[in-house]
Amino acid sequence: MSSIIDAGFVKAFAKLCDDAYNKGWHERNGGNLSYRIKDEELKPYLSQLSFDGEFKPIGVTVENLKNEFFLVTGSGKYFQNVKADIENNVAIIEIDESGSAYRIVWGLASGGVPTSELPTHLINHSIKKEKTNGLHRVIMHSHPANTIALTFVLPLDSKVFSRELWEMMTECPIVFPRGVGVLPWMVPGSADIALKTAERIKEHDVIIWAHHGVFCSGADFDETFGLMHTVEKAAEILVKVLSCGGKRQTMSADDISSLSGPYKVNINTDYLK
Ligand code: 13P
Ligand code: ZN
Repeated sequence: MSSIIDAGFVKAFAKLCDDAYNKGWHERNGGNLSYRIKDEELKPYLSQLSFDGEFKPIGVTVENLKNEFFLVTGSGKYFQNVKADIENNVAIIEIDESGSAYRIVWGLASGGVPTSELPTHLINHSIKKEKTNGLHRVIMHSHPANTIALTFVLPLDSKVFSRELWEMMTECPIVFPRGVGVLPWMVPGSADIALKTAERIKEHDVIIWAHHGVFCSGADFDETFGLMHTVEKAAEILVKVLSCGGKRQTMSADDISSLSGPYKVNINTDYLK
């Protein structure tokens, strides 16, 4: 039987970590990634998991995730190292019957714990699972420089950020039609950041944490990476535009809303008023 290290979902997880590191979004241990594993993906490898570890409290209760398995990055581990040494840098965790505790069933072979943002990842997976009828499976948190830079110069307002980022590239309103949610600075890994992010993720797939980074949710690895990439590229263009003295012309609100029909997306018109 092949090793779980060669499973498609494990390889795709490692590829995302590597691609995101190469983009410069993951200095040191910055950022974290989690994937809600499909039953059929894990089934061939159940004999390689170890079910004798103790369950530990998550800190939040995620009832609709009970008995689910997640692949998550380890706390303090570097995205840079995931591809070459996945077994020591990531873990598969199992959520218990109550949805309030987890245990490591594979990985972090030389010790460690899942990302310090685990409660934030799990509470947001819980909401996205419900809101998307199970479609969303990936949550990614990165530290991309241009988006972070904008949190020092734009007002920390979801409408302002969404509109500015949409205007930077025609594809942006199509890729994130609900806009981005913006949150003020908060302590990383705290219950506060988990709960405030959860409130906003009901409406958006992208949340910007002021002076810290971006948190986003998607159906699969490509879509989630692509979302992060699009947001950060728009932010990079805006940084360049501002550095060149600001906009001389742009897309109008009508231009942006005219994309909804042909591209079959529901662009958030509240952000176009
Ligand atoms: P972890 O190493 O615990 O995942 O923390 C990194 C981070 O970016 C926290 O926001
Ligand atoms: Zn972070």
